[in-house]
Amino acid sequence: MKDFREMKKRGEKITALTAYDYPTARLLDESGIDIILVGDSLGMVVLGYEDTTRVTLEEMLHHTRAVARGVKRALLVADMPIRTYDTAEQALATAKQFVDVGAQGVKLEGGASHVAQIEAITGAGIPFMAHIGMLPQSVREEGGYKVKGRTRPEAEALIADARAVEKAGAFSVVLEIVIGDLAKQITNTIGIPTIGIGSGEHCDGQILVTHDLIGLFPWFTPKFVSPAARVADEIRRAAAAFVDRTRAGGAVV
Ligand code: KIV
Repeated sequence: MKDFREMKKRGEKITALTAYDYPTARLLDESGIDIILVGDSLGMVVLGYEDTTRVTLEEMLHHTRAVARGVKRALLVADMPIRTYDTAEQALATAKQFVDVGAQGVKLEGGASHVAQIEAITGAGIPFMAHIGMLPQSVREEGGYKVKGRTRPEAEALIADARAVEKAGAFSVVLEIVIGDLAKQITNTIGIPTIGIGSGEHCDGQILVTHDLIGLFPWFTPKFVSPAARVADEIRRAAAAFVDRTRAGGAVV
């Protein structure tokens, strides 16, 4: 495992993307990415659920197995889905299942409220990535995907969350849709790297859902993403060309 704290100290940015299958994992790994996350965002961009709250442990384990076959050098982290880490005991048991299928680390959503779970995982020697700010697994209670850290109490709670996960042994912390100034303040306050998503340029690294980056889920793109490719358009173009050629009686190649 790379020393991510050292990277932070050196000011070297950390790169992370999601993968849910073997070919994507292998392509990302070959591209030199530092961290590959089997995110529970797979519920939306791969399985077609409305949000991540329906993703099951079995689904996550199945996709983590596939991704593990394609990763040789990046750190492979898997998301623990909702209701699989309600207690410290359950969190550790879930984390171990991910390690058994090839994950090298795990992530769960929550800060100070989840210190017992995080300590159980890190105490067992399993690398842990924290996730604070906007928590997609809480989208139903929150009533949407809202920017975090606008008010003073919210900002103070997020700083406390960041300190708590660092103390509990996390090797990094994802900051999701946290206002830029606060993300910068958190980054300067803690010793572990912050990995931002929609949280501005001052984080120690950046993570994105790969489908957003490559334009493979064209029905919804978060405001903070500028797709670097239009893969959905390419698929539509190739499929339509195949349909036309086949109907015209032409050869497939
Ligand atoms: O599920 C996911 O893909 C994530 C990242 C967007 C951070 O948690």
